[in-house]
Amino acid sequence: MLALSTWKHGFKPNQVVFDSISSGGSALDAVEAGARVCEADETCMSVGKGGIPDELGLVTLDASIMDHNGNCGAVSFVQGYSHPISIARRVMEVSPHVMLTGAGAERFAHEQGFMTEELLTDASRALYEKWKARPSGLKVRLRHSEESENEYVFEYEEDGIKKELDRTALSTNGSHDTIGLLARDKNGLLAGACTTSGLAFKQHGRVGDSPIIGAGLYVDGNTAAAVATGNGELVMRACSSYHIVEQIRNGVEITQTLQNALDRINNDKHLTDDMQIGLLVIRADGKWGAASIRGGFQFVVASDTMSNTLHQCNGFDFHPAQ
Ligand code: GLY
Repeated sequence: MLALSTWKHGFKPNQVVFDSISSGGSALDAVEAGARVCEADETCMSVGKGGIPDELGLVTLDASIMDHNGNCGAVSFVQGYSHPISIARRVMEVSPHVMLTGAGAERFAHEQGFMTEELLTDASRALYEKWKARPSGLKVRLRHSEESENEYVFEYEEDGIKKELDRTALSTNGSHDTIGLLARDKNGLLAGACTTSGLAFKQHGRVGDSPIIGAGLYVDGNTAAAVATGNGELVMRACSSYHIVEQIRNGVEITQTLQNALDRINNDKHLTDDMQIGLLVIRADGKWGAASIRGGFQFVVASDTMSNTLHQCNGFDFHPAQ
C-alpha cells in the first residue's frame, strides 16, 4: 500500500488516505477522503474553503478524480461548494460526462444534494482586501528556497521601497497550491485526486491544470498514476501527468520519465524563476517517484515500510522510486 500527497498541507490528508487503504478501503475512496480533509482546512489558503479568491474576490475551485479503470470526473470554476472533489466524483459516477464547469457544475451539484456555503474566510477576505487596497497593485510572487516549502509572497511598493505584506496576523500556514493525492490500495489498484482554488487573485474565469485530465492528474490502472502541482499553465502546455504515464507505458524507467517531464517544462518559454512544478508518480507495481523543477517542493509519503513522512525535493532533483 502507498499514499503520496503534495506539499506540507498534504500531511494530514495523506494519513487519512493511508488509514483508509490500510483498513481495506479502495484507493478511490481514500483519495477523495484525503482531498476533503484539505478542502475543509481553512488554514490551507490554496484549496477549498479559505482558498485565496480571484481578482473579483470570488473563490472559484477546480478538482478532478480518476480511478484505475480510466473513469474520471472533473469540475472547474465552481463557486459556493467547499468539496469540489466530491462533485467531480459524482460527475464521474452519475453523469455521462467527464467535466462540468461554472454555473453548470453548480447546478449539477445542487441537483445532487450538495450544500452551498461561504468559502471566503476572515483570513482570505482580509488578504483580498489588502491586495485590492494597494494603489500600486500588490504583486503575488512564489518564493522558493532550498530550506523550506514554497510560499506566496505578497509584495508592494511604498515610497519607492519594496515591502512584503505582513501575513503574521492571518491564520494561514503559508503553504500553497494544489493538493494532489495518489494511492495504491491493498488490491494494487491505483487512484488519484487533485483539488485547488488555483492561482491567488487569478483573472476571473481562469482555470488551471488541476481539473484537466492528463494535465494535473492521470491514472492508468495497468501502468501508473501521476499528479502535478505548481503553475498550472506550464503543466497544461506539457500535459505532464499524461506525459509521465505514457512514458511508463512505453517502458521508460521512472527517473528518466520524470527527467523527461521536467525537461519539457523547463523548455517552456513562459517559465520564469518564480515558478515551481512538482510531480508525483506511482507505478502499477508500487514503485514511486517525485520530482520538481527547483528546490522547495515538499511531499508526503506513507507506505507499508514508511510511516507518514514529509520529504523535500532539493532543486531540479528526484526522490526516485523505492
Ligand atoms: N496548479 C494549480 C493551478 O495552477 O491552478
